[in-house]
Amino acid sequence: MTTEGLVRPDGPAKLTGAARYAADVPAESALAAALVSATVPNGRLAELDAAEARDCPGVAAVLTRADLPTLAELPSPPLGYPALPLQAEEIHYEGEPIAIVLAETLEQAQYAASRVRATYTGVREPIAFGEAEDVVPHSGHVLGGTDEEKGDAGAGLAEAHVTVTATYTTADRHHSPIEPSATLAWWEGEQLVLHSSVQSVAVAQQTMAALFSLPPEHVRVVCPFTGGGFGAKGYVWPHLPLAAAAAKVSGRPVRLVMTRAQMFTLSGHQPATRQTVSLGATRDGRLTALRHDSVNASGRAVDYLENTTHSSTWLYASPAIETRMRVQRVDRPGPTPMRAPHEGPGMFALESAMDELAYELGIDPVELRLRNEPDVDPMTGLPFSSRRLVECLREGAERFGWAERSPEPRSMREGNDLVGWGVAAATMDTFRAPSSAKVRIGADGRIVVETGMQEIGTGLPAMVQAVVAETLGCDPGDVEVRHGDSGFPPHAGTMGSMSAMGLGSAVQAAAREVLAKLDGRQGQPLAGLLAESGLTELEAEGRWSPEEDALAAGRSARYSMHTYGAIFAEVRVDADFGVVRLSRAVTRYAAGRILNPLAAHSQLTGGFAWGYGQALLEHSDVDPVLGRFVSKNLAGYLLPANADLPDLDAAFVEDDDRFANPLGAKGIGELGAVGVAAAIANAVFHATGRRVRNLPIRLATVLSEP
Ligand code: MOS
Repeated sequence: MTTEGLVRPDGPAKLTGAARYAADVPAESALAAALVSATVPNGRLAELDAAEARDCPGVAAVLTRADLPTLAELPSPPLGYPALPLQAEEIHYEGEPIAIVLAETLEQAQYAASRVRATYTGVREPIAFGEAEDVVPHSGHVLGGTDEEKGDAGAGLAEAHVTVTATYTTADRHHSPIEPSATLAWWEGEQLVLHSSVQSVAVAQQTMAALFSLPPEHVRVVCPFTGGGFGAKGYVWPHLPLAAAAAKVSGRPVRLVMTRAQMFTLSGHQPATRQTVSLGATRDGRLTALRHDSVNASGRAVDYLENTTHSSTWLYASPAIETRMRVQRVDRPGPTPMRAPHEGPGMFALESAMDELAYELGIDPVELRLRNEPDVDPMTGLPFSSRRLVECLREGAERFGWAERSPEPRSMREGNDLVGWGVAAATMDTFRAPSSAKVRIGADGRIVVETGMQEIGTGLPAMVQAVVAETLGCDPGDVEVRHGDSGFPPHAGTMGSMSAMGLGSAVQAAAREVLAKLDGRQGQPLAGLLAESGLTELEAEGRWSPEEDALAAGRSARYSMHTYGAIFAEVRVDADFGVVRLSRAVTRYAAGRILNPLAAHSQLTGGFAWGYGQALLEHSDVDPVLGRFVSKNLAGYLLPANADLPDLDAAFVEDDDRFANPLGAKGIGELGAVGVAAAIANAVFHATGRRVRNLPIRLATVLSEP
């Protein structure tokens, strides 16, 4: 992989601590807030005794439901959490805020919060995943359809020479960004100012305006840097309205920073899924039917759908495809997208089932995938805008040395290590959203770009520099990027792997507009052009949006538009203890044109680490009696560290999607996390003969009888 590309102009500020995150913003006379949370998963609040807390040193106020304004109904789900805290006596989940303590210091607020006493009534035994009824979700979380069908899957399975049917599960997982969510809120008359760690200042602005019945221009949201989000900061979670409401009531700025434990209840999680896949095939490995059923756990107050079966409608050619998704409302906080949502859990099931089918047929798993490569989208019949999965599989296999694989399980032993090689495909949907940006040229030729989008760690400023430099023919270092303020031109946010293509296209449009206004050509010195035009400054705004007939979430109505990848993994399993170590991995991706290879490589290796976590480490178990996540900390919730990961050979194949946007780029934010768990689980099967159908992979599974 060539990792040429632009280094991050924001790097030094982050490294030295100069980059300012939401909780760091100074505010004179700000009060520190601490939340008191429900200790039961359901029922109602009976009594709240705050007398002792109010007498604690430094306490300015203890706010309960009676003290807070009633907020408006949320607009357009799913962007906010529908059950806002402190709006009703009902408890929707363990950890739900029931009071806010405001004090002069954080320690005083936290101590006083520990002195608030609550009693509850009507608490019943929590309902867990697997104990509730499957229901059709009604929220805005359904991407394609809950039930999709083409051909007759029943008939396709009946006439198949070989079939496999298996049920797979994935665990509840938490995003765990380094920076916990935080909001600093104050009011300037009717104007609300929010410094908040979010994935979209536009979503926060619009949702908060609606909740407080304000015109959007009365809400300013500032967030230049976000310390990771992975989906936990995409929607509006309780810290935003609670900080704003507390600031309104107290008349002082309020700083509300989530504790690590609160990040396990107040900003969503990826819900557990249970999925059943049936595949039928002819003896020469052509699919006759693909059926994928899924159900995921959801909160009692929300019906968040994990769209796991979505990618099963476009990945493989099959005359019959049938998918079905349901949710179960159980006693837990509301889930939310987590990198990679939908395809992340879904492709574990489909790509494990493909491996099982390969073994049933006695066909190499790479070859089986190649044999089922479709010419057009199998469900919709639409042409692919660009699809280079075959190239990913071929290049990856070549690089990995796949041809040397002995297919028999347990046949590649080295000493006490059982060696296994596994493969899986990856794919991710292509969401697109309108975007805008401003480009300004000064008399000295310096260029300033303004965008509402924040830098979340993906390399936004360098990507913008690359696009401006390419369009104007200038030096990337001449471009200063200002980001993360609702006063700048809006962007949908860093979610759904859609930031770079939308913002990049808008920046390109603005830069082209600058050249047009100056009657200039790419590469001509801008200061000179400006002087010739008798100007000292020139500004242009650029916009880009998906074509008019795009469907919801910017999905193309004319093309089947996705990104692809292939993951090859080598594991070494200790024959006695069952410990799985990943010793080698090769990944190849096709995601349109790559704007900044250095940052893109970093995204894909980071995504791989997430997939490794999904495969081997991450699970947030729910206590069946207390109805709460058991380990609300990073000691009990395991995340991958560098030492877990081998040297990763990650690279892109040539791709350019001229239908996606003017840049030809597609999303890479989530793709890297897809397919990794299946590749590792398939490698574990090859090493040990034990089929892994439940994530994360546990010693007990690896050591069980085959
Ligand atoms: Mo993402 S999981 O769309 O932030």
